[in-house]
Amino acid sequence: MSRKLHLNLFIHGRGHHESAWRHASATPLALTDIEYFRQLARTAEAGLFDSIFLADTLTLGDEIEHSARGGLEPITTLAALAGATSRIGLIATASTTYTEPFNLARQFASLDHISGGRIGWNIVTSWIAGAGRNYGQDQQMGHAERYARAEEFLEVATGLWDSWADDAILDDRRSGRFADPARIRSINHMGAHYRVEGPLNLPRSPQGRPVFVQAGSSETGRQFAARHAEAVFTAHLEKFTAAEFYADLKSQAAALGRPSDQILILPGLSAVIGSTEEEARRLWRELNELADPRVGLARLSSRFGGHDFSHLELDRPLSVDDFPDPGQVQAARSRAQVITSLVARERPTLRALLHSLAGARGHFTMAGTPEQVADLIEDWFRSGAADGFNVMPPILPALLDVFVAEVIPILQRRGLFRYEYEGHMLRSHYGLARPGSRFFDHAG
Ligand SMILES: Cc1cc2nc3c(=O)[nH]c(=O)nc-3n(C[C@H](O)[C@H](O)[C@H](O)COP(=O)(O)O)c2cc1C
Repeated sequence: MSRKLHLNLFIHGRGHHESAWRHASATPLALTDIEYFRQLARTAEAGLFDSIFLADTLTLGDEIEHSARGGLEPITTLAALAGATSRIGLIATASTTYTEPFNLARQFASLDHISGGRIGWNIVTSWIAGAGRNYGQDQQMGHAERYARAEEFLEVATGLWDSWADDAILDDRRSGRFADPARIRSINHMGAHYRVEGPLNLPRSPQGRPVFVQAGSSETGRQFAARHAEAVFTAHLEKFTAAEFYADLKSQAAALGRPSDQILILPGLSAVIGSTEEEARRLWRELNELADPRVGLARLSSRFGGHDFSHLELDRPLSVDDFPDPGQVQAARSRAQVITSLVARERPTLRALLHSLAGARGHFTMAGTPEQVADLIEDWFRSGAADGFNVMPPILPALLDVFVAEVIPILQRRGLFRYEYEGHMLRSHYGLARPGSRFFDHAG
């Protein structure tokens, strides 16, 4: 069977453009109204998307006056969406820095049971400096330490998901044996950061464990992804950097003996779609005119760990000297890299930089017709820059509706995208193997 495209819907506020919440075509529903998320999940499922994704940051941030923030907690929300859908995958972010592995393991195993095997976990180390202050930490944990902790966290969580064999439950009313204790075991983990006895207190889930998603593109982030990720979200403003990232990560994974089709790479794509290119550009301009530079400046600062850019003039061309060295940034290192590379390449004014980041925070943005969006998708897919895309509609639900109604049929006619779901689990949508337990073989 020929290689097929994978599409994930990244749900974010009322759309990914910074000022989407103010646009007349954005949803009138509150960000705490579960019906809003049910509608989006059902539309994406009707469009045969592989999955939907809910991000999470463990702090409100300081732009609440001028930007739509303050949404539902993702794990709780996925439980509700599992009941409102039947085939689409459901991915949520959870932090390895500010969560206990035993809690996370039981939450995601429960969701995988509840959804019939449709769950994915976006593994984040929580780059935002302010999050620590909600967990009793004055100092932000360093980049390297966050990843070292994440490594052990995964060791523990995976051990807990493997602590039950698939056939441990007997449920034998006649003999009075509910489970076979020989098919359940402790993990007795003793590590630098965690001491966890186990076993997990619920049986192994339909997928064995959630699909591992990851989104850190720094050197350390790539090494982590090469070892563990099954799907990788990444931000690129240009096809050539996406292709470089793709080739590097696939070769790192191959060097660890991992087949190329077991680590899928999905760059972000935020497309303003119009029936003509001019119409799309007009909508893009409308959104940028609604953008508030104070929001853009606050976001830029947080990407660089709180660096103050407020002294910079809005209409003077920037240089990389105006920015901290991204290699030393303890926050979102790869995103800082994306931004300084853009500045080095194009020397934009601060206003122009904030406009280009207002679209999708450093992910690829475009304005065009459905045909032009499909052409872009086919080009990156066929030229080794992507296995699929993290679809980031600038305005929700309007530009998701257009994507499903106009772009999906073009991708199907070109033989790039499915006409029906292959199976019932997220792993079958992504073509990923079901992992065995490190403690038990399936045969019993
Ligand atoms: C599509 C996408 C989604 C992300 N979602 C989250 C999120 O929900 N929460 C979070 O704290 N970080 C999120 N991140 C940030 C990454 O987890 C990571 O911290 C960031 O890319 C910097 O990683 P690096 O320092 O390894 O380059 C996301 C990144 C991308 C590209």
